[in-house]
Amino acid sequence: MRLDRLIALRGPFNRQQARLVLAQGRVLVNGQVCREPAHEVSAFDRAEVDEHLLQAGEPARYYMLHKPTGCVSATSDPRHRTVLDLLAPEHRLGLHLAGRLDYHTTGLLILTNDGQWSRRLTQPGSQQHKRYRVYTEQPIGEHYAEVFAQGLYFAYEGLTTQPATLVRLGSHMAELSLVEGRYHQVKRMFGHFQNRVTGLHRLSMGPLLLDPALQPGQYRALTAEEIEQI
Ligand code: URA
Repeated sequence: MRLDRLIALRGPFNRQQARLVLAQGRVLVNGQVCREPAHEVSAFDRAEVDEHLLQAGEPARYYMLHKPTGCVSATSDPRHRTVLDLLAPEHRLGLHLAGRLDYHTTGLLILTNDGQWSRRLTQPGSQQHKRYRVYTEQPIGEHYAEVFAQGLYFAYEGLTTQPATLVRLGSHMAELSLVEGRYHQVKRMFGHFQNRVTGLHRLSMGPLLLDPALQPGQYRALTAEEIEQI
């Protein structure tokens, strides 16, 4: 919300007084003087006027999880184990998923309480590449790569998929890089060739690579450097 609104809402000031204390340089955001009434403050910012604390700023938290097969990418589910169940109870609070993986898909999943940050990672316009290792029932044809690069028409959404890059690694194994994440996208792309995906594993999202030290079901906090890359 705007800084002047926060001051009027949480401090002993009306909107007019809020502008005055701002102009007088009495407002600190994360320890720095801020005089801009329209400055946007998030839940993670500390804001104070003189000695009056408007909000302490909750800590932003970011985790990468090696999702195992057999759990749902949701924060709650009446029937199945969720990815949140894999985190220690004290780490779960307020987290959401930055992108989902299907029940049987394994690999990199990001969880955070920072919505602005996760939107930068997942929104379709952000052009962050997601790389997958794909295993198929039938041999992967040489011609798939060109079809994926041109895009496939998804009738349900009425759209053509963005160009994707396919590299064959074996007769039944490939690496696929996408910049979007439509519902069951990888399975539907191979489904175009009546070729069933038998295994799917996400290796990376943009600059974030699944840490090879993480076993399925394990997670760790992102480093400051990883957070800043998004
Ligand atoms: N595409 C799929 O079909 N499934 C996933 O889990 C991720 C991408």
